[in-house]
Amino acid sequence: MSPRKIIIDTDPGQDDAVAILLALASPEEIEVLGITAVAGNVPLPLTSKNARIVCELAGKPEVKVFAGCDAPLSRPLVTAEHVHGKTGLDGPDLPDPQMALQDGHAVDFIIETLRAEPAGTVTLCPLGPLTNVATALQKAPDIVDRIQEIVLMGGAYFEVGNITPTAEFNIYVDPEAADIVFKSGIRITVMPLDVTHKALVTKPRNDAFRALGTAAGVAVAEMTDFFERFDKEKYGSNGAPLHDPCVTAYLINPDLFTGRHINVEIETASELTLGMTVADWWGVTDRAPNATFMGDIDADGFFALLTERLARL
Ligand code: RIB
Ligand code: CA
Repeated sequence: MSPRKIIIDTDPGQDDAVAILLALASPEEIEVLGITAVAGNVPLPLTSKNARIVCELAGKPEVKVFAGCDAPLSRPLVTAEHVHGKTGLDGPDLPDPQMALQDGHAVDFIIETLRAEPAGTVTLCPLGPLTNVATALQKAPDIVDRIQEIVLMGGAYFEVGNITPTAEFNIYVDPEAADIVFKSGIRITVMPLDVTHKALVTKPRNDAFRALGTAAGVAVAEMTDFFERFDKEKYGSNGAPLHDPCVTAYLINPDLFTGRHINVEIETASELTLGMTVADWWGVTDRAPNATFMGDIDADGFFALLTERLARL
Protein backbone atom coordinates (compact mmCIF):
# COMPACT_ATOMS: atom_id res chain seq x y z
CA MET A 1 0.00 0.00 0.00
CA SER A 2 1.49 3.39 -0.93
CA PRO A 3 2.24 5.81 1.91
CA ARG A 4 -0.39 8.34 2.91
CA LYS A 5 0.43 11.89 1.77
CA ILE A 6 0.11 14.41 4.59
CA ILE A 7 0.74 18.03 5.51
CA ILE A 8 1.58 18.53 9.20
CA ASP A 9 0.34 21.87 10.56
CA THR A 10 2.05 22.48 13.86
CA ASP A 11 3.10 24.73 16.75
CA PRO A 12 6.14 22.90 18.20
CA GLY A 13 5.90 22.26 21.21
CA GLN A 14 7.63 19.16 22.52
CA ASP A 15 4.67 16.89 21.76
CA ASP A 16 4.44 18.28 18.23
CA ALA A 17 8.12 17.44 17.88
CA VAL A 18 7.52 13.81 18.80
CA ALA A 19 4.60 13.64 16.34
CA ILE A 20 6.84 14.98 13.56
CA LEU A 21 9.66 12.55 14.45
CA LEU A 22 7.20 9.63 14.36
CA ALA A 23 5.93 10.69 10.93
CA LEU A 24 9.42 11.15 9.49
CA ALA A 25 10.47 7.75 10.87
CA SER A 26 7.57 5.99 9.10
CA PRO A 27 8.04 6.44 5.32
CA GLU A 28 6.24 3.18 4.48
CA GLU A 29 3.02 4.59 5.90
CA ILE A 30 3.49 8.37 5.69
CA GLU A 31 4.83 10.76 3.05
CA VAL A 32 5.23 14.22 4.57
CA LEU A 33 4.61 16.66 1.68
CA GLY A 34 5.46 19.60 3.93
CA ILE A 35 5.22 21.09 7.39
CA THR A 36 3.34 24.34 8.01
CA ALA A 37 4.03 26.26 11.20
CA VAL A 38 1.35 28.22 13.04
CA ALA A 39 1.43 30.45 16.12
CA GLY A 40 0.30 28.57 19.20
CA ASN A 41 2.40 27.16 22.01
CA VAL A 42 4.92 29.92 21.24
CA PRO A 43 4.91 32.73 18.63
CA LEU A 44 5.38 31.93 14.94
CA PRO A 45 9.10 32.79 14.70
CA LEU A 46 9.72 30.07 17.29
CA THR A 47 7.29 27.47 15.96
CA SER A 48 8.74 27.83 12.45
CA LYS A 49 12.27 27.56 13.88
CA ASN A 50 11.38 24.58 16.09
CA ALA A 51 9.81 22.69 13.18
CA ARG A 52 13.15 22.92 11.35
CA ILE A 53 15.11 21.91 14.46
CA VAL A 54 12.99 18.75 14.63
CA CYS A 55 13.43 17.94 10.93
CA GLU A 56 17.21 18.16 11.38
CA LEU A 57 17.02 16.06 14.56
CA ALA A 58 15.28 13.43 12.37
CA GLY A 59 18.08 13.76 9.81
CA LYS A 60 15.58 15.11 7.22
CA PRO A 61 16.71 18.67 6.35
CA GLU A 62 15.08 18.27 2.93
CA VAL A 63 11.56 18.52 4.38
CA LYS A 64 9.80 21.71 3.27
CA VAL A 65 8.86 23.94 6.22
CA PHE A 66 6.66 27.02 5.74
CA ALA A 67 5.67 29.78 8.14
CA GLY A 68 1.95 30.46 8.37
CA CYS A 69 -0.39 32.64 10.41
CA ASP A 70 1.12 34.53 13.33
CA ALA A 71 -2.18 35.18 15.13
CA PRO A 72 -5.70 33.73 15.34
CA LEU A 73 -8.38 34.86 12.86
CA SER A 74 -9.93 37.44 15.11
CA ARG A 75 -8.42 37.28 18.58
CA PRO A 76 -5.09 38.06 20.20
CA LEU A 77 -2.69 35.10 20.37
CA VAL A 78 -2.57 33.10 23.60
CA THR A 79 0.63 31.09 24.06
CA ALA A 80 1.69 28.29 26.43
CA GLU A 81 5.24 29.00 27.57
CA HIS A 82 4.12 27.88 31.02
CA VAL A 83 3.88 24.37 29.58
CA HIS A 84 6.51 24.26 26.84
CA GLY A 85 9.09 26.77 28.12
CA LYS A 86 10.34 30.02 26.59
CA THR A 87 11.66 28.38 23.40
CA GLY A 88 8.74 26.00 23.00
CA LEU A 89 11.22 23.12 22.90
CA ASP A 90 12.75 23.40 26.37
CA GLY A 91 14.41 20.26 27.69
CA PRO A 92 17.10 19.13 25.25
CA ASP A 93 19.86 21.47 24.06
CA LEU A 94 19.36 21.28 20.29
CA PRO A 95 21.33 23.31 17.71
CA ASP A 96 19.72 26.15 15.75
CA PRO A 97 18.51 24.95 12.33
CA GLN A 98 20.73 25.18 9.24
CA MET A 99 17.83 24.49 6.85
CA ALA A 100 15.96 27.57 5.62
CA LEU A 101 12.26 28.24 5.71
CA GLN A 102 10.59 27.84 2.34
CA ASP A 103 9.54 31.02 0.54
CA GLY A 104 5.83 31.63 0.46
CA HIS A 105 3.10 31.44 3.07
CA ALA A 106 2.02 28.15 4.62
CA VAL A 107 -1.60 28.79 3.66
CA ASP A 108 -0.64 29.09 -0.02
CA PHE A 109 1.41 25.89 0.25
CA ILE A 110 -1.64 24.07 1.64
CA ILE A 111 -3.87 25.39 -1.15
CA GLU A 112 -1.36 24.80 -3.97
CA THR A 113 -0.54 21.29 -2.78
CA LEU A 114 -4.20 20.29 -2.52
CA ARG A 115 -4.86 21.65 -6.02
CA ALA A 116 -1.77 19.92 -7.46
CA GLU A 117 -2.27 16.47 -5.92
CA PRO A 118 -5.13 14.22 -7.10
CA ALA A 119 -8.35 15.03 -5.23
CA GLY A 120 -8.87 13.02 -2.06
CA THR A 121 -5.23 11.93 -1.67
CA VAL A 122 -3.87 14.44 0.88
CA THR A 123 -4.57 14.38 4.63
CA LEU A 124 -4.13 17.49 6.79
CA CYS A 125 -2.74 16.86 10.27
CA PRO A 126 -3.24 19.96 12.45
CA LEU A 127 -1.40 19.72 15.77
CA GLY A 128 -1.99 23.31 16.94
CA PRO A 129 -4.58 26.08 16.58
CA LEU A 130 -6.53 25.70 13.32
CA THR A 131 -5.74 29.18 11.98
CA ASN A 132 -3.74 28.06 8.91
CA VAL A 133 -6.29 25.41 7.92
CA ALA A 134 -9.29 27.69 8.37
CA THR A 135 -7.58 30.49 6.44
CA ALA A 136 -6.89 28.08 3.57
CA LEU A 137 -10.54 26.97 3.51
CA GLN A 138 -11.71 30.60 3.48
CA LYS A 139 -9.23 31.64 0.76
CA ALA A 140 -9.84 28.61 -1.47
CA PRO A 141 -13.23 26.96 -0.84
CA ASP A 142 -12.53 24.62 -3.78
CA ILE A 143 -10.04 22.66 -1.65
CA VAL A 144 -12.79 21.37 0.68
CA ASP A 145 -13.60 18.54 -1.74
CA ARG A 146 -9.91 17.80 -2.37
CA ILE A 147 -8.95 16.99 1.24
CA GLN A 148 -8.90 13.24 2.01
CA GLU A 149 -9.31 13.75 5.78
CA ILE A 150 -8.35 16.08 8.61
CA VAL A 151 -6.81 14.22 11.56
CA LEU A 152 -6.30 16.73 14.34
CA MET A 153 -5.32 16.95 17.98
CA GLY A 154 -7.74 19.16 19.85
CA GLY A 155 -10.79 19.41 22.03
CA ALA A 156 -12.05 17.34 24.92
CA TYR A 157 -15.29 15.95 26.32
CA PHE A 158 -14.85 13.90 29.51
CA GLU A 159 -11.50 15.60 30.20
CA VAL A 160 -13.03 19.08 29.67
CA GLY A 161 -10.35 21.82 29.59
CA ASN A 162 -6.59 22.23 30.02
CA ILE A 163 -6.24 25.97 29.34
CA THR A 164 -9.62 26.95 30.87
CA PRO A 165 -12.06 24.86 32.90
CA THR A 166 -13.91 24.01 29.64
CA ALA A 167 -11.52 24.34 26.68
CA GLU A 168 -8.50 22.53 25.27
CA PHE A 169 -5.63 24.81 24.15
CA ASN A 170 -5.63 24.27 20.34
CA ILE A 171 -9.34 24.99 20.05
CA TYR A 172 -9.31 27.76 22.66
CA VAL A 173 -6.59 29.79 20.91
CA ASP A 174 -8.65 30.10 17.71
CA PRO A 175 -12.26 28.98 18.26
CA GLU A 176 -13.47 30.77 15.11
CA ALA A 177 -10.97 28.77 13.04
CA ALA A 178 -12.07 25.55 14.70
CA ASP A 179 -15.70 26.42 13.99
CA ILE A 180 -14.91 26.84 10.28
CA VAL A 181 -13.12 23.48 10.17
CA PHE A 182 -15.79 21.54 12.07
CA LYS A 183 -18.55 23.03 9.87
CA SER A 184 -16.64 22.41 6.61
CA GLY A 185 -18.13 18.99 5.85
CA ILE A 186 -14.62 17.55 5.49
CA ARG A 187 -14.03 14.09 7.02
CA ILE A 188 -12.57 14.84 10.46
CA THR A 189 -10.95 12.56 13.04
CA VAL A 190 -10.32 14.12 16.44
CA MET A 191 -7.71 13.16 19.05
CA PRO A 192 -9.06 14.95 22.16
CA LEU A 193 -7.61 15.15 25.66
CA ASP A 194 -9.87 12.19 26.46
CA VAL A 195 -7.39 10.06 24.53
CA THR A 196 -4.14 11.99 24.92
CA HIS A 197 -4.38 12.05 28.70
CA LYS A 198 -4.18 8.26 28.53
CA ALA A 199 -0.90 8.42 26.56
CA LEU A 200 1.34 9.30 29.50
CA VAL A 201 5.13 9.10 29.37
CA THR A 202 5.63 7.12 32.57
CA LYS A 203 9.18 6.63 33.84
CA PRO A 204 9.60 3.18 32.19
CA ARG A 205 8.45 4.66 28.89
CA ASN A 206 10.77 7.63 29.25
CA ASP A 207 13.62 5.26 30.16
CA ALA A 208 12.90 3.30 26.95
CA PHE A 209 13.29 6.49 24.89
CA ARG A 210 16.57 7.32 26.62
CA ALA A 211 17.83 3.74 26.29
CA LEU A 212 17.71 4.11 22.50
CA GLY A 213 20.92 6.08 22.99
CA THR A 214 20.32 8.02 19.77
CA ALA A 215 20.13 11.80 19.45
CA ALA A 216 16.41 11.52 18.74
CA GLY A 217 15.70 9.07 21.55
CA VAL A 218 17.57 11.06 24.18
CA ALA A 219 16.04 14.36 22.97
CA VAL A 220 12.53 12.92 23.25
CA ALA A 221 13.30 11.70 26.78
CA GLU A 222 14.55 15.19 27.68
CA MET A 223 11.57 16.91 26.04
CA THR A 224 9.03 14.82 27.90
CA ASP A 225 11.00 15.13 31.14
CA PHE A 226 10.57 18.88 30.77
CA PHE A 227 6.96 19.24 29.77
CA GLU A 228 5.49 16.65 32.12
CA ARG A 229 5.65 19.01 35.11
CA PHE A 230 2.56 21.04 34.03
CA ASP A 231 0.33 17.95 33.89
CA LYS A 232 1.87 16.37 36.99
CA GLU A 233 1.16 19.54 38.97
CA LYS A 234 -2.34 20.09 37.56
CA TYR A 235 -3.65 16.54 37.24
CA GLY A 236 -1.25 14.53 39.36
CA SER A 237 -0.48 12.67 36.14
CA ASN A 238 2.05 9.88 36.07
CA GLY A 239 3.97 11.50 33.19
CA ALA A 240 3.69 13.87 30.23
CA PRO A 241 0.63 13.35 27.96
CA LEU A 242 1.80 12.81 24.38
CA HIS A 243 -1.02 14.73 22.71
CA ASP A 244 0.11 15.29 19.13
CA PRO A 245 1.83 11.93 18.41
CA CYS A 246 -1.65 10.35 18.70
CA VAL A 247 -2.38 11.93 15.30
CA THR A 248 0.64 10.38 13.61
CA ALA A 249 0.16 7.02 15.35
CA TYR A 250 -3.43 6.94 14.09
CA LEU A 251 -2.20 7.24 10.50
CA ILE A 252 0.17 4.31 11.05
CA ASN A 253 -2.17 2.08 13.07
CA PRO A 254 -5.76 3.33 13.47
CA ASP A 255 -6.62 0.20 15.47
CA LEU A 256 -4.79 1.72 18.44
CA PHE A 257 -7.79 4.03 18.90
CA THR A 258 -11.54 3.72 19.40
CA GLY A 259 -14.16 6.45 19.26
CA ARG A 260 -17.57 7.48 17.99
CA HIS A 261 -18.83 9.35 14.92
CA ILE A 262 -20.72 12.16 16.56
CA ASN A 263 -21.65 15.83 16.34
CA VAL A 264 -19.03 18.25 17.64
CA GLU A 265 -19.67 21.97 17.74
CA ILE A 266 -17.41 24.78 18.94
CA GLU A 267 -18.36 27.43 21.48
CA THR A 268 -17.43 30.82 19.99
CA ALA A 269 -19.83 33.20 21.78
CA SER A 270 -19.64 32.57 25.52
CA GLU A 271 -16.59 34.00 27.27
CA LEU A 272 -17.20 31.48 30.07
CA THR A 273 -16.95 28.39 27.85
CA LEU A 274 -15.10 29.83 24.81
CA GLY A 275 -13.40 27.13 22.74
CA MET A 276 -15.30 24.24 24.28
CA THR A 277 -15.84 21.27 21.96
CA VAL A 278 -19.51 20.48 22.61
CA ALA A 279 -19.36 16.79 21.73
CA ASP A 280 -22.67 14.93 21.55
CA TRP A 281 -21.02 11.72 22.83
CA TRP A 282 -24.32 10.33 24.14
CA GLY A 283 -26.37 11.24 21.05
CA VAL A 284 -28.85 13.39 22.96
CA THR A 285 -29.41 15.84 20.09
CA ASP A 286 -30.46 15.45 16.47
CA ARG A 287 -27.40 17.37 15.30
CA ALA A 288 -25.73 15.65 12.35
CA PRO A 289 -22.50 13.77 13.13
CA ASN A 290 -19.50 15.63 11.68
CA ALA A 291 -16.45 14.04 13.32
CA THR A 292 -14.99 10.78 14.56
CA PHE A 293 -14.15 11.71 18.15
CA MET A 294 -11.71 9.30 19.79
CA GLY A 295 -12.31 8.13 23.34
CA ASP A 296 -9.74 5.43 24.04
CA ILE A 297 -6.22 4.32 23.14
CA ASP A 298 -4.14 1.16 23.48
CA ALA A 299 -1.41 3.07 25.33
CA ASP A 300 1.05 0.16 25.53
CA GLY A 301 0.65 -0.45 21.80
CA PHE A 302 1.10 3.28 21.14
CA PHE A 303 4.36 3.50 23.08
CA ALA A 304 5.68 0.26 21.57
CA LEU A 305 5.10 1.70 18.09
CA LEU A 306 6.57 5.09 19.00
CA THR A 307 9.70 3.64 20.59
CA GLU A 308 10.26 1.18 17.72
CA ARG A 309 9.95 3.99 15.16
CA LEU A 310 12.14 6.46 17.07
CA ALA A 311 14.84 3.78 17.08
CA ARG A 312 15.01 4.13 13.29
CA LEU A 313 16.18 7.77 13.43
O1 RIB B 1 -3.79 20.90 24.45
C1 RIB B 1 -2.69 20.22 23.91
C2 RIB B 1 -2.30 20.81 22.59
O2 RIB B 1 -1.93 22.16 22.77
C3 RIB B 1 -1.06 20.13 21.97
O3 RIB B 1 -1.14 20.20 20.57
C4 RIB B 1 0.07 20.98 22.46
O4 RIB B 1 1.20 20.94 21.59
C5 RIB B 1 -0.55 22.34 22.41
O5 RIB B 1 -0.47 22.81 21.08
CA1 CA C 1 0.68 21.24 19.31
